Amino acid sequence: MPAGRALQPGAADQGALSVVTTPWVRAEWRARIAAEYGSAALTQHLVLWLIQIGAPPDLLDAGLAIVADELAHSRLSHEVYTAAGGTEPPALDAAGLALTRAGDDLLDDILRVAVRVFCLGETVAVPLFAHLRAPCREPVARAALDRIIRDEVRHRDFGWDLLDWVTSVRPGLAARVAGWLPRMLAELRASYGDLNPAVLADDGSIGDVERAWGLAPPREYAAILARSVERDFAPRFAARDIALPAPAA
Ligand SMILES: [Fe+2]
Ligand SMILES: [Fe+2]
Repeated sequence: MPAGRALQPGAADQGALSVVTTPWVRAEWRARIAAEYGSAALTQHLVLWLIQIGAPPDLLDAGLAIVADELAHSRLSHEVYTAAGGTEPPALDAAGLALTRAGDDLLDDILRVAVRVFCLGETVAVPLFAHLRAPCREPVARAALDRIIRDEVRHRDFGWDLLDWVTSVRPGLAARVAGWLPRMLAELRASYGDLNPAVLADDGSIGDVERAWGLAPPREYAAILARSVERDFAPRFAARDIALPAPAA
C-alpha cells in the first residue's frame, strides 16, 4: 500500500520537466516502489512456508502469481517516479524483506501473515487504490493504478481463501484470529488510520496536480480504513464466526 503523505504539498515544478509534478508526487511514488517490492518479498516468503507445509497447488500458484504482480507494481511505480522527475534509488531495507517466525507452529504463523497482510492489508487496499485512481489523470500513473487495482482484488481473495484453507486444516485456529485482531487493527490504524501522526497533523489539503498523479491526503486514507472495517472486514469475519473487536473510541 502507499505510504501516505511524506511532504507537504508544494508548488508544482512546472517548466523543469515535460510534465507538471511536485516533490510530494515524487516522494510518494518513490515510497510505493519500495512498498510494492516489499510485498513481493513477503509474499514469496509466505509461498515458501506454504510449500514447506504442503499447501494445495492452487494456493501455491495464486501466491506465486501475486509475487509477479507485486514486482510488476514496483516496476510500474518506478516508471511513474522517473516520469515525475525522480532520480533517487528506492529506499529498500533488506532486513524488512523477509517474514519472521512468531513461534514453532508453521500453520499458526501462516495464518497470522494471511490475516495481517492479506485479509486486512490487501482488503483495504482495494477501496484505497480505487480512491487514488478516480481523479488520476496523468497517463503513466493511471496505467500503474489500473494494473494495481485489477490485481489487488485477486490478492484480497487469496487472503480469505488462505484463511479458509488453514482453518479447514485445523478448525481450532479460527479462535486465534479473534485474539490477534485487536492488535492488528491497532497497527493498521497507526499506519494508515486515525492513530497515524500524519493523519492527526493533516488538514486535508492537496493540489489538483497531486490528485492527477494518484495521491490523496492522509485523512482520506483514515476515512477509507474506517469504512473498510465496517463494510469489508466485518462481514467477512462474521461469515467465518470470527469476532471483530468493537471500534475503539
Ligand atoms: Fe501491489
Ligand atoms: Fe497486492
